[in-house]
Amino acid sequence: MVFENKLGLDSPAALALAEERISKKRALDLFDWGMRDRLEAGTAASLKAIHRYLFDDIYDFAGELRTVNIAKGNFHFAPVMYLSVALENIDKMPQSTFDEIIEKYVEMNIAHPFREGNGRSTRIWLDLILKAELHKVVDWSNVDKEDYLLAMERSPIKDIEIKHLLKAALTDEINSREVYMKGIDHSYYYEGYVTFKAEDL
Ligand SMILES: Nc1ncnc2c1ncn2[C@@H]1O[C@H](COP(=O)(O)OP(=O)(O)O)[C@@H](O)[C@H]1O
Ligand SMILES: [Mg+2]
Repeated sequence: MVFENKLGLDSPAALALAEERISKKRALDLFDWGMRDRLEAGTAASLKAIHRYLFDDIYDFAGELRTVNIAKGNFHFAPVMYLSVALENIDKMPQSTFDEIIEKYVEMNIAHPFREGNGRSTRIWLDLILKAELHKVVDWSNVDKEDYLLAMERSPIKDIEIKHLLKAALTDEINSREVYMKGIDHSYYYEGYVTFKAEDL
């Protein structure tokens, strides 16, 4: 399936490639232009701003809440009917300890506000919270992608695995471009896609 896109692409491989390159460039701009430091940490509004920024050149739905119900594997994300109220509640969740932050991240993943691009935008959102509250971030190069996906699949039922995995990968290198970039690798989830390096963008 190919999402209708502003690039006029109708092949899944071509869209995946263009999407990864463009959104990664945008994610780097967020970092390089210091927007990462100006966005409010831990609100749905800042997640929407991140998503809009990453995907505005690609999808009409950039920064917009989805209007259809979606599932991955056996898991159904928040029904559209309850999405807005879920986001209001997530805004109010505390975020002063590591456990609270991951619990908030897990709830945001369950909400899955956008049609596509939730993983990448929400990991940047998590990065903002960890940086603001704990002066630490996740070094995603120390997170095995299969372990991550399994832990995320488990997380709506039990969040112990994702907490353990991400806690072990925390680093003080909050201003490292490389550490930051790893979090938005789409190829984290889909085998076979080319991963662009910063210098290719
Ligand atoms: N079965 C699942 N249950 C809960 N969360 C999942 C599941 N599968 C994937 N995820 C989460 O959803 C994210 C992918 O969502 P998606 O909207 O496709 O984002 P992206 O396009 O940026 O990868 C993954 O990074 C993971 O955090
Ligand atoms: Mg996706």
